[in-house]
Amino acid sequence: PQAAVSQEAGFRDYRALIEPARVNSRLYYDPDIFQEELEKIWYRTWVYVGHTSEIPNKNDYVTKSIGPMPVLLVRDKDGEVRLLLNKCPHRGNQLCAYKQGNRTSFTCPYHSWTFSNTGDLMGYALPEGYEGQDKKGLNLGKVPRIAIYRGFVFGSMAHEGPSLEEHLGGAKAALDQLLDNSPTGELDLTAGFLQHRTKANWKFMLENETDGYHPGFVHGSVFQVTNSGIGNLYGAQSLALTRDYGNGHTEFDLRPEWRRLDKPLEWFGTSEARLPDYVQAMNAAYGAERARQIMIDGSPHVMIFPNLFIAEIQMFVLQPVAVDETIQHVTALQFKGAPDINRRLRQQTMGSVGPAGFLLADDTEMYERNHRGAKIPDPEWLTLTRGLHRERRDENGFRIAHSTDETPQRGIWRHYLNLMTQAR
Ligand code: FES
Ligand code: FE
Repeated sequence: PQAAVSQEAGFRDYRALIEPARVNSRLYYDPDIFQEELEKIWYRTWVYVGHTSEIPNKNDYVTKSIGPMPVLLVRDKDGEVRLLLNKCPHRGNQLCAYKQGNRTSFTCPYHSWTFSNTGDLMGYALPEGYEGQDKKGLNLGKVPRIAIYRGFVFGSMAHEGPSLEEHLGGAKAALDQLLDNSPTGELDLTAGFLQHRTKANWKFMLENETDGYHPGFVHGSVFQVTNSGIGNLYGAQSLALTRDYGNGHTEFDLRPEWRRLDKPLEWFGTSEARLPDYVQAMNAAYGAERARQIMIDGSPHVMIFPNLFIAEIQMFVLQPVAVDETIQHVTALQFKGAPDINRRLRQQTMGSVGPAGFLLADDTEMYERNHRGAKIPDPEWLTLTRGLHRERRDENGFRIAHSTDETPQRGIWRHYLNLMTQAR
């Protein structure tokens, strides 16, 4: 409502829109709020951009984004990983239109200015018109800060602020858990990305990724027809936990369930006998005892704020393009040095979140309904109270609760409020 906008100061009072256990619907559909999120979240905090395994060789590049803004993730001619802004300094044209490739330079399609893959202007087309002009200052823009954690490349458009380590905080352990599932400790993201365009605000996806309340219902028919025991993981008896890692990072932690069952690869819906090469590689890498524990615990289900979601076997990258439009970039996780499990990871990814994927189609339907519903004026406030009375702290001090509780969502909004009320 109007009262939430302070006219004199020219900024919105987010404290009037976000309470500890309820949020105002306006946050999902107001285009002015979306613009402010770009400035205060997407162009300030650390945002996941891509993975070093997508650019294994010198001169490889992939086109990526930070929010709606296109960027180039490049391994330059000296092997250094760089994040360049995909904008020609001449007239602002988007420089590179390809998804990926290998080249030492980029030539703008408009007037053919050419830039090295370090971002330096190399030369003009019809150069006599630029006699004596200093090329300095006409280089490609750079993402001011770049940091890499175990192959995950993050960029921040803010020149200063918390380090990536500080930003990841406790959620770093979930990325380590993921990489433990690789016998080499490395990912090899070579499966290619699917793109799903959804007519809904990005925060519905952010909140849903670790929501353990919905799967038993939204995905109930899938669990039923596939006769899968997975549905039980989302019931009242589930031992799974939701966790708020702080800084907006959240987790749906299934390890208590897998540990109870005590069977390696149960998390992956298979058994050791069916993945002999993988099991052998894991045993060789970690020793039989540690390998067994890793294969029982499985891969995490974690949402790294604001845009990187690891769903056990898949990676989702959220890209907001408008207040009511979000692209989800999805790929199958691939563990370097594990061919037999990689093939199955790709197959399962196509089945669950591919173009006809049974899980993604369900969720997408909900996101678009969320968005349409949020715009209805009454009731104005949406409720996030589930499990307030049973929230507690884990051994590391992070908030945890039952698998169906809204601890992650409350954590997301706590961090969101911090970011949106920070000084410019
Ligand atoms: Fe790129 Fe003119 S806009 S060369
Ligand atoms: Fe879902």
